Amino acid sequence: MDNLNFSLEGKKVVILGGSSGIGLAVAQAAAAEGAQVIIVSSNAARVQRAVAELPGTGLGMQADLSDEASVKRLFEEISTLDHLVFTAGENLLLGNISETEIGTAREFFNLRYWGAFAAVKYAAPRMNAGGSFVLTGGIASPRPNAGWAIGASICAAMEGFTRAMAVELAPLRVNLVSPGIIRTNLWSGMGDTERDAFYENVANALPVRHVGEAEQVAQAYIYLMKQPFSTGQILVTDGGAVLV
Ligand SMILES: NC(=O)c1ccc[n+]([C@@H]2O[C@H](COP(=O)([O-])OP(=O)(O)OC[C@H]3O[C@@H](n4cnc5c(N)ncnc54)[C@H](OP(=O)(O)O)[C@@H]3O)[C@@H](O)[C@H]2O)c1
Repeated sequence: MDNLNFSLEGKKVVILGGSSGIGLAVAQAAAAEGAQVIIVSSNAARVQRAVAELPGTGLGMQADLSDEASVKRLFEEISTLDHLVFTAGENLLLGNISETEIGTAREFFNLRYWGAFAAVKYAAPRMNAGGSFVLTGGIASPRPNAGWAIGASICAAMEGFTRAMAVELAPLRVNLVSPGIIRTNLWSGMGDTERDAFYENVANALPVRHVGEAEQVAQAYIYLMKQPFSTGQILVTDGGAVLV
């Protein structure tokens, strides 16, 4: 293995949750660097649209990442890979603990935590030497607001999982990107006016004075895939949100 070759050229990069938002931006950036990209999400039509938007060629596959059997089948089909990026996620349940129904809250771990857990479990034996995982958390862990208990807990769990896997799966590398507020479909549940006002408030409060774009945070994933000397790290990419 050449530790001074930082290129993604020809590397097989699998992006779980690559059909939109941050994952799609990672797929586009990796493909632009010559990687062989495989985009995976739960919706076949969205996967095909995303593949069509890639510079160069790429592959698409459909899988429900909240279902272990589906994740296992996916990696049997993929066979071997160089890098795994996990960005699959859904709108999280917000609300104070007093009004949280625990059974419903528990289900939110299925995709973001257990989905990532299953992906690492079934991909690890198929990783080529020099391979890496880049997982996703969020600043809900270090900087929660009231009502964010579910998101904060999932993000914190992902950070612990990342460090544990970096030790257990070495010399494979395992890192995590912790995004701040990024303009993606994740916020599509809000009405247009409410969302614009939310983005404007966030931008005004941030040291960088703008909301994050998927293309910006994608660079953090690309960096962690290419950086052979980083493992077990949490790369916060948040416009300075945790400082203010
Ligand atoms: N945007 C932000 O402000 C922000 C901030 C902090 C953390 N994050 C985290 O970053 C990650 C990416 O978010 P994003 O903003 O890029 O959201 P997004 O645009 O909504 O993308 C989410 C992706 O997950 C896929 N997905 C959802 N359910 C799935 C399932 N059961 N199986 C397979 N794929 C599934 C979606 O594709 P299909 O619908 O086609 O399945 C889509 O590709 C999420 O974990 C999110 O919580 C986002």
